[in-house]
Formats: sequence, C-alpha cells, structure tokens
Amino acid sequence: MPSEINGLDQAEKAELLSGSGMWETPGSERAGIRSLVLTDGPNGVRLSAAGDTGPGLGESRPATCFPAECATASSWDPELLEELGRAAGLEAAALGVDVLLGPGLNIKRSPLCGRNFEYFSEDPLLTGSLGAAWVTGVQSCGVAASPKHFAANNQESYRMTVDVIVDERTLREIYLRGFETVVRRSAPWTVMAAYNRINGFHAAQDPWLLRQVLRQEWGFDGVVVSDWGAVTDRAAALAAGLDLEMPSSSGIGPAELVAGLDAGLVSPDDVDASLARLRELGRRTADKPAAPPDLTAHDALARNAAARSMVLLKNDGALLPFSSAATLAVVGELARTPRYQGSGSSRVNPTRLSTAWTALSERIPGAVFAAGYLLEPGAPDEDLIAEAVRAARGADQVAVFLGLPDAAETEGLDRSTLQLPQAQLRLLEAIAEVRPDVAVVLANGSVVATDWVPKAAAVLETWLPGQAGGEAVTDVLLGDVNPSGKLAETFPRRLADTPAYGNFPGEAGQVRYGEGLLVGYRWYDTRMVEPAFPFGHGLSYTEFRYSGLEATVSNRGGEEEVRAVLQLANTGAREGAEVVQLYVAAPAGGAPRPVQELRAFKRVNLAPGETRTVELVLAPGSLDRFDPLTGLWATDPGTYELRVGSSSRDIRLTAAFTLAAAAPKPLPTASSTLAEWMEHPLAAAVLAEAFGAGAGDPGVAASMLTLMGSLPLDRLGRFPGSPLSAENAAALARKLAERAEQQEGST
Ligand code: BGC
Repeated sequence: MPSEINGLDQAEKAELLSGSGMWETPGSERAGIRSLVLTDGPNGVRLSAAGDTGPGLGESRPATCFPAECATASSWDPELLEELGRAAGLEAAALGVDVLLGPGLNIKRSPLCGRNFEYFSEDPLLTGSLGAAWVTGVQSCGVAASPKHFAANNQESYRMTVDVIVDERTLREIYLRGFETVVRRSAPWTVMAAYNRINGFHAAQDPWLLRQVLRQEWGFDGVVVSDWGAVTDRAAALAAGLDLEMPSSSGIGPAELVAGLDAGLVSPDDVDASLARLRELGRRTADKPAAPPDLTAHDALARNAAARSMVLLKNDGALLPFSSAATLAVVGELARTPRYQGSGSSRVNPTRLSTAWTALSERIPGAVFAAGYLLEPGAPDEDLIAEAVRAARGADQVAVFLGLPDAAETEGLDRSTLQLPQAQLRLLEAIAEVRPDVAVVLANGSVVATDWVPKAAAVLETWLPGQAGGEAVTDVLLGDVNPSGKLAETFPRRLADTPAYGNFPGEAGQVRYGEGLLVGYRWYDTRMVEPAFPFGHGLSYTEFRYSGLEATVSNRGGEEEVRAVLQLANTGAREGAEVVQLYVAAPAGGAPRPVQELRAFKRVNLAPGETRTVELVLAPGSLDRFDPLTGLWATDPGTYELRVGSSSRDIRLTAAFTLAAAAPKPLPTASSTLAEWMEHPLAAAVLAEAFGAGAGDPGVAASMLTLMGSLPLDRLGRFPGSPLSAENAAALARKLAERAEQQEGST
C-alpha cells in the first residue's frame, strides 16, 4: 500500500472514510486524498446553498431541472440520456461537485412506490441501457456518477429497515441486471449502497453483494458509498466492501471502525484499499471543464428531452395535434401551476419555470384558462367546475390538465391508491358531458388509474417534464414535435392486477417478492392479464409499417450472436420517430421463463415516406438465464421466437431462430441429485463403475430413477442398505473431477 496512507494512524484513516458533513468528505493532503463534494441527483444538481448545514433539503443553488427519470425513460433514447448526463455533469462541475448522486436504477416493482419518478422502468434492459448512457455523459465532465440504490430498493415504506425476501434468480435477472449493465458498460466511479436488507443482510453491509457480485463478478473498481444513513455497523460495512459512509456520523462510524480493527474484525488492508479507492476517486474527478455551462442551451435541452419523452396514450379520430388557428380552452390548475418534478432529495431549484398555460396562450392568443379544481386536497369546487365547463363549451379545442399533486409522490412515502384526485375526476366528468372531444394532459411520476380514459378522446402523458415542460407540452399539442415516447412501465387496469399486489409493501419488516421474475409486462403477458396501456405503447402523429424480418445466428468467438434485420417505413405525412422493440420468447420445456422479454430496442427517426433497414443485435449471453443451482448464467438450447413490434402487445413481425446447446453442463457435485449424475455421461460412467455397471433391467433402472432421482447423492447413504455413504459421494465427486480433467488433457 502507498506509504502516504501507511503514514496515518488507524483513527485518522477511519475518519477519512466517513463524511465530514452532510455533503463533503474530509480529505487529507498528507494522504493525497482530496476532500469531495457529493450532491443529488438524477434530474439536475441540487447543491445546498451556502450556509445551509441542515439535514440537506433546504435552499439549493439554481440548476437546470431536467425531466425526471420516469419521463426520460419513455424516450428509449440512450443518446439523449448521454446528452442529459453531460449537461448535468457540466453544471455539477461548475458548482464544484465531484459526485452526482444518480441515476436511480431501481426497478418499478409496484406502481405504488412513492419514488418511481426517480427510476427508469420495470424492465432491466431499458434501465441498464439508459442508466449507462447517463453515467457516461456525467463522467465525461470529470464528475462521478453514483448509480443507486444498490440493490432491491423498490419501496419507500420502511425504507431504511425493510428486509426484501427474494430468490437469487429474480434478484440477478431483474433487480441486479440494470446495475450490472451500467457497471460493465459505463464503469461508474461510485455506486450507492441501499438502505434496505436483502434476505436478512443489510445491502450496505453485505460482502456477497458488494465484494463478490459488484467487484469480483462485474469488475467494479470505484468507491461504494452508503446511502445517507444506511450504515448501522461501520466495521461490518467496511469489511463487506463499503468504502465511504455518508453523511458524517459525528464520529460514531469512525469509532466503530477503529474498534473493529482493534478486535480483528476488520483487516487493515481492507481499510487501506478503501482509502486507495477514495484517493483514486479524487484523481478521477480532479479535472473538470472550467467554462461555465450554457444554461440557455440546457433549458432548450430540457425542453427537447421533455417533448421527446411524452407518450401519446390515446388519440381517437386524430384529435391531436391541435391547430394554432382554432380557439382553445386550457382547463386545470396544473396548466398554470405545473407539477414538473418529484419531491425529496432529487428536488432541484430550477433556473426558470415554464407553464403550459403561458406557452399555449402565447401560441394561441385568444386561448382561455379555467382552473377547474384546486391543487390542495378537498372536495370538488362546483363553481370552478361550472366555469371550466363554460370555457370548454365555448372553444373549438379543449385541453384538460390532470395529474397527481406534489404530496402524492415523494421520497419516503408510498402511494396507497392509483386514483387521480376526486376533484379532477369530477371536473372531467362534467366537461365530458358537454364535450366528447377533449384532450387530457397528464402530469404524474408513475402510472395512475385509467377508469376515466373513455371520457377523453386523446390522452397525452407528460410525466414530470422538468422546468421547460410547459413549452414542451405545447410543442407536442400543437404538432411542432411529433410524439415518440413509449411506456417504460405498464398502466394496469386495476391495482389488484399489478404483479406485487398482496406482496407490497409487506409486513413485520419484511417484503416478499412473491411474483418472482414476473415483474411489469412479464407479469401481464405471462398471466394473460389485460393492461390499460401496455409496456412499450405510445402513439405518433404518423404511421409506421414493419416488414421483412430476418433472424440470423452467427458464431462470434465461440458464442452465438443473434441478429435481426427488418424494414421500417414511415407511411404517414409527418416526420416521426418509432422505437422498434424486440422481444424474445424462450423455447418451451426449459426452466420457467416469462413468456417474452425485451432483448433489444432502437429509436429510429424517419422522414415522411422514408424506409430504412433496422438492425438489432443480441450480444452473446443476452438470452441467458441465471441458474441458481450452479450459480452461473446458462443459455438454453432450442428454438426461440423473435417478436418485433411497436409495443409489448403490438407485435408486428415474428421469426424463429435456434441456439445450439451451449458449453457442456458443469460437473455434478456430491450434493447433486442422482438424476443429475445420471444425465451427465461421464458422471453416469463413474457411478456405473463404482456400483458394478450393468445397470440391470433398464425398466427397473428407469423406475428407480423416477423414485430416487431427486435424492442428492450424499443423502443416499441415509437409506437402509444403501451402498453409498456421504464420504463415498464426496470421493465419487473427486473421482469425477479427476476424470474430467484427464479427459480435457487428452483432447
Ligand atoms: C436518498 C438518496 C439520496 C441521499 C442524499 C437519501 O435519503 O435515498 O437517494 O441521494 O438521501 O440526499
């Protein structure tokens, strides 16, 4: 270990590994470790204003408030995410921030999670692809990103204590996969360990999660930082691989660490390794662009990103786009007092704020506004409703702005219902009685109930669109921007249809992920539950035609790569972007799998009448499933179906392809079952040799295998008259391993 670090005593070292305040680390010139500034967060920089030393959610410095992740996820556009990351990184750099605490990579397990607005999707591929792009953008500015909250932090109820009970396959394939993609693809310089426990272990103190999976398997070489206050035992956390405790624990953490060192519970080498990583983080973030960021350009980017992320859920009779030459009634307080970001640690103090009402009335000078409801909870206001109905009656076109109030979606609290506020529903009902042709514009950070949808001819989901959301929604409503967003989360028909229903948010400090792999569309599609709007859905003002799908499998470095090629045509009269989605159905008869899973996607921009060849590549390994028996990823051989479409429920083309059997199965061990031994040719031979081969009457052997096949070899010895003891089983496993080695050596 470098001498500067060795020059410090244990107490000094321990101090360097905890925050010195809410947002800083102490640093030490002697040890060559810079003092670092860490701030939130995913949709812009929230740096506490000078002098704010409180718990950290007070006044903050102005910064561009970009659309929240719930919105940008609907763009399905990694390039956009990289640009957004770069912009946030530039602002962070200019404010002297070293670590920007994001992106949020947790999977949307239940639509009720109060923090879903800070997460991308219910799908790990989409989450990982977008998250990696954002990290690359941020880190290109010399600012570290901090993917969070690692891992399985999917609810706000009991968020600091809840124990997530989840099987390893589900954890690997659903909840860790996005993090894995981000770590492997964009090498984040930090990762934030979550508050919750997983199968009994604190995520921030779990050596399996932090050392084995994150560092050894995925190759993470950065700093693991705790979520704010996640550490309960500093010595255990350090020993598990958590480098930096945040925020300052007023000396508690460092004292625990020193006590752990004295007691031999923590290795001094591990402490030095953590310090070395912290020093490296200081180096990685030392060079930042000096020029001040162009905040006007960032506002324009926020507008563009918001517009590209809006999802046109419904558009009967091509009601939208509206015409700027006709009159317009803008109804709903949210058009004047926008809901544009979520509440909690991600809250940004925007550099400016647009509203839909101002932006629309600038484009359509005669437009009229009626509030229709109050944002504060309460009974419907019949006077406001009557005024709104009058306004709606008198206009050629009507936009009704609905959504969730601030208090409904916030860090620290889950929702208890999917319903929109009663006053808003009552307003829509009253307007629908006089006009069937209204467009509803939604603002919310996660899906809402949709019983009211038949009362609107068009529905535009804007999510939480950031500071330029008012202009962005105007761009889409008036057709300057053709909507191209696609749902990154399913809209259910009822709360009772959602995958985690009955298992969310748990009880007695535990939550059981009983739905297993069937999260999001994996649930709706496999269980044949009809959603209100499916995953991947989103309409356009133009039409796209899919044709000519061909699937090919080629060998790349001994592994099989699947390539899908198709033609995509814009058959309408406007330029537009389509997100081509590729789902794969695995061969029947193997391990249980969701009926289809998103395996690739591509956003394609097409001029009217243009046709383009679209190619999607499935890298080797991307169809693998995790095998909990062996602890390895496995490719199932057989015939797969490629399904290409415009949403998970709008599959336009299919093609089949076949994958050959992958590498030979791993050798059975002493605790593998008799059936597993018999299935493996070499193992079966070793068994036959040991027990006098001639397996006798094949019929008897087969029925014996049916009966006894599920018995682990080392348990066979517990049966009366068994020729095998547990020791024999171990010896047989050793013999098998030797044989396999000999075989390998001779080939
Ligand atoms: C949140 C993190 C956030 C941190 C610092 C925690 O309560 O869970 O997402 O980065 O506070 O504000």
